[in-house]
Amino acid sequence: MAKFRKIGILTSGGDAPGMNAAIRAVARKALDEGVEVVGIVGGYSGLIQDNIVPLSPRSVSNIISRGGTMLYSNRCHEFKTEEGMQRAIEVCRKHEIDAIVAMGGDGTFRGATDLTNRGIPTVGIPCTIDNDITATDYTIGFDSAMNTALKMIDCLRDTCESHARCNVVELMGRDCGQIALYTAMASGAVAAVIPEIPFDEGKALARIQRLVKSGKRSFLVIVSEGVLTEDGQKYGELLTKRISEQTGVESKFARFAHVVRGGQPTLRDRYTATAMGVRAVELLLQGKSNVVMCELDGKIVDVDINYALIADRTYKNKLKPGDLDSFTKEQIASMQALAEQRKQELASLYKMVVETSK
Ligand code: F6P
Repeated sequence: MAKFRKIGILTSGGDAPGMNAAIRAVARKALDEGVEVVGIVGGYSGLIQDNIVPLSPRSVSNIISRGGTMLYSNRCHEFKTEEGMQRAIEVCRKHEIDAIVAMGGDGTFRGATDLTNRGIPTVGIPCTIDNDITATDYTIGFDSAMNTALKMIDCLRDTCESHARCNVVELMGRDCGQIALYTAMASGAVAAVIPEIPFDEGKALARIQRLVKSGKRSFLVIVSEGVLTEDGQKYGELLTKRISEQTGVESKFARFAHVVRGGQPTLRDRYTATAMGVRAVELLLQGKSNVVMCELDGKIVDVDINYALIADRTYKNKLKPGDLDSFTKEQIASMQALAEQRKQELASLYKMVVETSK
């Protein structure tokens, strides 16, 4: 067992329901192992600014059910500079922080690997509502955000049915359409529009017209925020206007934005956060770092952070020259296979939404 005396926890990037549950799990497990725990308040900025607080079993009481993050979060540009990173390392040395558990998305993991490379072993826990980390089937916050969205979309269904209307709902997800696609499926939407799959607007409008003739009164269309018009505007409002004009069905637009990022985490998120949090501490104590906790086929496993970051770029077609240099042929092939698997998963869900929207 590695002799850690003190572990730091930080949350960074966009918050996600379940982050608190993960903080609690890491803190309680580490304390149970006789390791001191400190919270780094305000993500990587908090580390640079020396904003460190001790955590006890009691200071993480009753947070498992709360959204947001008790350690606060932000996106820190200073940490991307060598000076910022050196300052962060100095703060770790000052507080005798031997290791860090960093919770967030891909930006957080880039920071985690920078810390590990500079002598502070770090493990990442994927927390983002977007579920956009290729290496893991699931990111903490995804289920809660979708369920929050779904509750509100179900409300819209009621009023759309009363007034024979359509409601277009724009959901977050950055470049990833999963939140929109899953909620479209679960709300019985007539169409889902996501960045990854081309949308046939003409077909969708014709479908609405056909369904009106068959007696259908209410329509929901779920659009991911990452879908843009040719001139770079968000597509949702434009589509709302076109539905009204071209189908005769009065259409309203709703942007849920950050509201789906708040609120109570679901059981799914509390469980995953707890399982990943406990495992992250076990790994650190076994001397393992620079890994990100992943869920693959229902199991919690650890994946090398560099592999996870480059698998992500492979899936998103964002590989930069040299990105693959440090990987073996087998690793590159497995990244490509993973990227292909993710594309197929999305395509088959998309097909299901279309097939059941008749
Ligand atoms: O990554 C999570 C996320 O909520 C995305 O879905 C969204 O595009 C982005 O963060 C919004 O970021 P911010 O909170 O900085 O406005």
